[in-house]
Amino acid sequence: MRTHHVQLTIPVGKERIARGFYAGLLGLEEMEKPAVLAARGGCWFRQGAFELHLGAETDFVPSRRGHPGVLVDDIDALATRLEAGNITVTWNDDFPGHRRFSIHDPFGNRLEFLSPVANGSSIGIERLEPETFATWESDVVSIYAAAFADPPYSRGASHVDGFADALRRHVDRAGFVAFCACVAHEKVGFTYGYTTGRTQWWHEQVRSALGPRADHWLTDSFEYVELALQPRYRRLGIGRRLHDALLAAQPHSRAVLSTIDAVTAGRRLYESAGWEVLVRGFRFERTVARYLIMGLEPVPRPSGSALR
Ligand SMILES: CC(C)(COP(=O)(O)OP(=O)(O)OC[C@H]1O[C@@H](n2cnc3c(N)ncnc32)[C@H](O)[C@@H]1OP(=O)(O)O)[C@@H](O)C(=O)NCCC(=O)NCCS
Repeated sequence: MRTHHVQLTIPVGKERIARGFYAGLLGLEEMEKPAVLAARGGCWFRQGAFELHLGAETDFVPSRRGHPGVLVDDIDALATRLEAGNITVTWNDDFPGHRRFSIHDPFGNRLEFLSPVANGSSIGIERLEPETFATWESDVVSIYAAAFADPPYSRGASHVDGFADALRRHVDRAGFVAFCACVAHEKVGFTYGYTTGRTQWWHEQVRSALGPRADHWLTDSFEYVELALQPRYRRLGIGRRLHDALLAAQPHSRAVLSTIDAVTAGRRLYESAGWEVLVRGFRFERTVARYLIMGLEPVPRPSGSALR
């Protein structure tokens, strides 16, 4: 089977509004209806292999849930165009291998647009240099805000400001290494860390938590500080590629990190990459949440294949 066309309905007499949206905003081409069908109202559109028939219906009820799923080449350009036309674009990140969003047409019918990102080939992993910090700071802070907005993190504006301040200090630390993931030149994820050292707040807190193991874990050691991804790009392997690229680029033989003590995607990623839990339920000064302290040794040296 193959699809010949998809039909949606619109209220009787609303063809002009339909043309403005489907041809004017979405960019579909209007087709001439066969004469015998034209008398019934409605209008037909197509682009490439996608053909859409809008039928006029007297007792019109919008299809708010059922919807066509339309594959598009440049999903970001389409989203930008729709938003410029005051259409609300709702991204959804729970469909592995695809980026997708939904909208409603002017009559309330739902439409979904998808773009496959199946093999990650269009995703670039790039190093972020401290010297060019000013050019990437705001992108990284925006990704952080989006990535940690939901539970169990629920980090709001004051926490995001705190992250931005910390990042400005961290970028000057010895051994600072950072990478970002880019899709069509948009930064969608980042990761960074540096050489852990005495007098740094996190280092001293973790030292007390590790007790007699501290000298081992915190000597010649990389502090893995952050890993975050825009929610709509999750489950495409980007987080793992960022993680592997960062560890491959830092020079130390062991690494330490802290992450919230809950079942999270980040924790699963670290465990699957070989990190071991060193301390559970640790409370940093001035924090409410409990944390895991994790260590990795030896740091594996994956090939540089993640790099573009
Ligand atoms: C953690 C994060 C970066 C993962 O990015 P991602 O690109 O979605 O992850 P990947 O697709 O590379 O998956 C790598 C591994 O992570 C784990 N993982 C990722 N998402 C998961 C999920 N929703 N549920 C369970 N495990 C998950 C799996 O072990 C996965 O390996 P698999 O695909 O072989 O099963 C992303 O979810 C994120 O930004 N989360 C919010 C911020 C955060 O938690 N940061 C890290 C802790 S500080």
